[in-house]
Amino acid sequence: MKRMIGRLLRQQVRLAKRLVERLDPEPGPYNSINPAFAYASINKTLTTLMSEHRGLYPQYTWGVLQAAHLATTLGIRRISVIEFGVAGGNGLVALERASERAEAESGVQIDVHGFDTGRGLPPPTDFRDLPHLYRPSEYRMDVDELRPRLKRAKLHIGLVADTLKEFFESKPAPIGFASFDLDLYSSTVDAFTIFEQKSHDLTLPRVHCYFDDIMGLSFSEFTGERRAIVEFNAKYERRKIAQIFGLKYFLPSQFSNQQWAEMFYLAHMFDHPLSDRPDGLTLNAQRPLAQHLARSVAPLCVPLTDFVVSYGPSVAALI
Ligand SMILES: C[S@@+](CC[C@H](N)C(=O)[O-])C[C@H]1O[C@@H](n2cnc3c(N)ncnc32)[C@H](O)[C@@H]1O
Repeated sequence: MKRMIGRLLRQQVRLAKRLVERLDPEPGPYNSINPAFAYASINKTLTTLMSEHRGLYPQYTWGVLQAAHLATTLGIRRISVIEFGVAGGNGLVALERASERAEAESGVQIDVHGFDTGRGLPPPTDFRDLPHLYRPSEYRMDVDELRPRLKRAKLHIGLVADTLKEFFESKPAPIGFASFDLDLYSSTVDAFTIFEQKSHDLTLPRVHCYFDDIMGLSFSEFTGERRAIVEFNAKYERRKIAQIFGLKYFLPSQFSNQQWAEMFYLAHMFDHPLSDRPDGLTLNAQRPLAQHLARSVAPLCVPLTDFVVSYGPSVAALI
């Protein structure tokens, strides 16, 4: 009897913890249930997925959810997401899982692509490739071991300068999220050709970008990925890659102190025909004040039936 009560109590504590995670009790305007910003619902989905599925990377899951949200808002039914630099493949597997979940949540079809030489890093060309950090052939991939782990991701093996040409010719769905983990400046410059194409079909008007090699160590705007970004921005007037400032304030509290909150950029395609369309992140900014207030208060009066649907009967029984 004692053991049964103990088990029941532990079960209820676990349920309560998950409930608290889902409610995301941050007081800020973006993390509370505030209908003015889509961040709240995207964050709730992120927290739920992270607590329910092992092996997901929060940064990939957040990036893919944001891309799917933008696509939904713009009425685009299919997108591509990319990992540049696959190596052992754990990241690509995580991207694949995140895409499956985001697809189920959003209804947007998500194609997953991974790019890698298959033979590790190419030799650094000069100081811009940080030769004091990276050695040729580091991070070799075992292609035969990785392939069976992949369900939907397409592997593009070879130098990105070559494989991207074939990728463009295959007329892929517009890119909504890209992770850049090629380490080298020169390789990142080659990968940025995804933002240099004339056709606007290749990307969403804004592409969420995660840069893996910009924090700490000897990284700077004079070398590596950040130099590639600086040069890209100098080259184009109406296409820019810019950091998302203060992202940590817009994330669920358990992620706001994680490094990746400072590693997200948006590639802004200001010349994209859909660039000026509302992106669905601010939902009711134009609404008159009275109506806005009424909507802000409404979610606080969640009927118990809705609560049971959202969180399950055993959690509702707790309150
Ligand atoms: C740090 S590893 C990637 C790690 C991986 N994202 C993960 O999370 O496990 C960098 C990879 O970038 C690849 N790479 C670098 N430059 C490349 C290029 N020009 N073309 C294709 N792959 C490249 C290397 O082969 C290497 O496997």
